[in-house]
Amino acid sequence: MKTSIPRISSMAHYHETYAQSINHPESFWHTIAQCFTWKTPYSKLLNWNFTEPHVHWFQDGTLNITENCLDRHLSTHANRIALIFEPNDPASPRRSYTYKALLQAVENMAQVFSNAGIKKGDRVCIYMGMVPELAIAVLACARMGAIHSVIFGGFSAQAVADRINDAAATFVVTQDLAYRGAKHIPLKAIVDEALVHCSSVKHVLVYQHAHSAYPFSEPRDINLNKALESIQDTTFTAVEMQAEDPLFILYTSGSTGKPKGVVHTTAGYMIWAQYTFEQVFQYREGEVHFCTADLGWITGHTYLLYGPLLAGATTVMFEGIPTHPHAGRFWEIIDTYGVNIFYTAPTAIRSLMALGTEPLQPFNLNSLRVLGTVGEPINEEAWNWYKKQVGKNKCPVVDTWWQTETGGILISNLAGIGPERASWATYPLPGVQPVLVNEHGHVLNSANETVQGNLCLQFPWPGILRTTFGNHQRCRENYFSMYANLYFTGDGAYRDTNGMYRITGRVDDVLNVSGHRLGTAELENALNHHPLVVESAVVGIPHDIKGTAIIAFVICAANNYNTTMLLTEINATLQHHIGAIAKADKIIIVPGLPKTRSGKIMRRILRKIATGDFENLGDTSTLVDSAVISQLVDAAKIFY
Ligand code: PRX
Repeated sequence: MKTSIPRISSMAHYHETYAQSINHPESFWHTIAQCFTWKTPYSKLLNWNFTEPHVHWFQDGTLNITENCLDRHLSTHANRIALIFEPNDPASPRRSYTYKALLQAVENMAQVFSNAGIKKGDRVCIYMGMVPELAIAVLACARMGAIHSVIFGGFSAQAVADRINDAAATFVVTQDLAYRGAKHIPLKAIVDEALVHCSSVKHVLVYQHAHSAYPFSEPRDINLNKALESIQDTTFTAVEMQAEDPLFILYTSGSTGKPKGVVHTTAGYMIWAQYTFEQVFQYREGEVHFCTADLGWITGHTYLLYGPLLAGATTVMFEGIPTHPHAGRFWEIIDTYGVNIFYTAPTAIRSLMALGTEPLQPFNLNSLRVLGTVGEPINEEAWNWYKKQVGKNKCPVVDTWWQTETGGILISNLAGIGPERASWATYPLPGVQPVLVNEHGHVLNSANETVQGNLCLQFPWPGILRTTFGNHQRCRENYFSMYANLYFTGDGAYRDTNGMYRITGRVDDVLNVSGHRLGTAELENALNHHPLVVESAVVGIPHDIKGTAIIAFVICAANNYNTTMLLTEINATLQHHIGAIAKADKIIIVPGLPKTRSGKIMRRILRKIATGDFENLGDTSTLVDSAVISQLVDAAKIFY
């Protein structure tokens, strides 16, 4: 019999629960852990330090996350719909899986994977569109103990190759092509291009989604449809995993170098996913949850797949985009399936808001109970529109702050319980201990005034990243070395006198473009691949829909080029190395960059110039060559 996670039911209850989680973390998490299925119990609840860093939760316990997502629900709701698939083209067949059917599909897929030679601990890169087979492939990896690394279907061949190589993946799962709105993305052909640069891959399993021909080379490539057809409803026993065995790797951008593989482990991630899903959305038995994120991002992992399935909910997986074939697609999906919880990004809200309320009119949104946002700070206008036009002023809006590295939500109001305040994520979840640190590294303790600082966490929660794949030193340097004994998020925040947090966004060299993380170093490396680009510097400036727009300053080797062609080519270079998400809004060709004597680019000046603010450039006395300023202004002026 499944025991339920004790649910927070009021603000007073929240404060009491929070205090318990901080004062007695071990007994607190022990109680929560009892609500899950273990193969063998753990001997030690928590063992940690933030200097190495080293975090072990539920050590020695063994389990399999898919038993918790699927098998354990069979006794109570085997026939409840677990997964609904809404295709890109509304005229294409819809599909849905009950919990029983999803388990069977996962077992069959795991058997196919096993027959292909995938073993526990292997890294499997999954590069697919939003089709049920993607979710099934992810769960099949988890069932057999392989480490999944999902790569967003919008990344380029080069980006796919970088991720496969970093993970030393031995298998790739992909599909012939993916549909996204009017676009067809030839995923298999992109994998073929990537694999020219990868030596670790033994087999590529290809799911055929469309009916057209696609490149296929035996014996490396395996036809997944055929392999699945040959499996007759098999039983695939879930492999016993240690609590701290890696569950998945997910690549994300940082302020330096190439994207890093954030590693999440089995038990802690699982517990955090279900705990936060249930508390934040105040999930009610049998509800339908629609998270619009792609499974290629952490939001898709935790709140499209694992969180809802762990909780026994019905989760909606949408293949397409919100404006295809009409601008009311999200609203139509909510109406069709009676969605109760809707979770999306501010950038999507802003772009839909720009289309007015007409696309909402034909649809009945009465089923909605909770609205959520994630991925970037939400501006008040978008928050108000969401609350009024989508939620009809009846649904609480939760503003959920978290990161790929945190595994799940850390700071958020709780639906219908916590205070709702536009653009304030408000309170930390139980177990989360945020602190704000000033530029000198001092923790800001004052409770009598609103303070602003860099957001850090001083104690581990079960879902914290454990390492960055293949390079623990990088994990330490990125997150644990800025301030002693603290995990640094890279975000800035305010805390008011009630202890509520408002996240202001990144304070490092990471840009948040339409809710996607891109490092300026990563963008600059990509730009520098263009043969005529000698040096480049990228900054982000505010953008009405995307949140942040990419502005690139580039120094070119020659001056006898066709500017229009060059700019198109440079943007193509960005997309070749990263993908369609990395499109520069403006590329400004400049003769030099503003550098200090130590060679550091003064991005502060570039940001001002990029916004067309040529007058207030601040102190420029530390520049090696201050003449560069007037040249930069001249080059930028044509855009303003
Ligand atoms: O800057 C914060 C912003 O998104 C970053 C994390 O990005 P990623 O790892 O891609 O994960 C996105 C989905 C969890 C954070 O460092 N961010 C995320 N949620 C919010 C946010 N900024 C403000 N408010 C939020 N609710």
